[in-house]
Amino acid sequence: MAKTYPLGIDVGGSGIKGAPVDLKTGEFVADRLRIPTPKKSTPDAVADVIAEIAEHFEDETSGEAIGITFPAVVMHGVVKTAANVDKSWIDTDIEKLLEKKLDRQISFINDADAAGIGELQYGAAKDTKGLVVLTTLGTGIGTAILNNGVLVPNSELGHLEIDGHDAETRAADSARERDDLSWEKWAERLQSYYTMLENLLWPDLIVVGGGVSKKHEKFLPLLDLRTPIVPAKLQNAAGIVGAAWQAANK
Ligand code: BGC
Repeated sequence: MAKTYPLGIDVGGSGIKGAPVDLKTGEFVADRLRIPTPKKSTPDAVADVIAEIAEHFEDETSGEAIGITFPAVVMHGVVKTAANVDKSWIDTDIEKLLEKKLDRQISFINDADAAGIGELQYGAAKDTKGLVVLTTLGTGIGTAILNNGVLVPNSELGHLEIDGHDAETRAADSARERDDLSWEKWAERLQSYYTMLENLLWPDLIVVGGGVSKKHEKFLPLLDLRTPIVPAKLQNAAGIVGAAWQAANK
């Protein structure tokens, strides 16, 4: 019988992406499958897409755990917030729903937490001792706190209040695009955000993820912080890889 691997799935605003992950290397075992997120992205509609992805990778992942990332607070498999997703998610016990539907062990976790685990196990924070804070700059700002390799789940530090504003509405990558900011102007907002973060948490390392981290040389050198700040290494794969790791280590 062929070897099987855990499946990682990343549920995002525009696409739902999945791949089987080899936990020895942190790499995909097969090409990633992406399916557009349903227009009305209710729990049932998203669960159908997740089932389709699981079916697609049946040969590689048969019977293995499935780790899924989602852009909201997820407490013990139950979605608790919906900052940028359909409100019908709130209070859905999505882990139970998917376990019934797919007959597989499911770990459903916050997207930034999953990316943090991925970076800690295989990427920019590998083997870092002490406190690591990962931030993802995208539609919102996601955060993951990892202390000596242990995740403190559901930190929501993208919603810190700065000058009377929810930080992510000013400093996320979507705010840079919306307000048509130069890298310098955006970096000013990031400077306020990361200064607050380092003054509240005193991390040993800050990792910056999200699609825009590919262009880190445009904005990270403009920041003046006491904490080392580095781009994420796994890029788009971090969430899928971290979720698969979490599912297998539940
Ligand atoms: C949500 C977080 C999420 C982040 C990144 C925020 O708006 O509250 O739960 O991690 O966006 O997607």
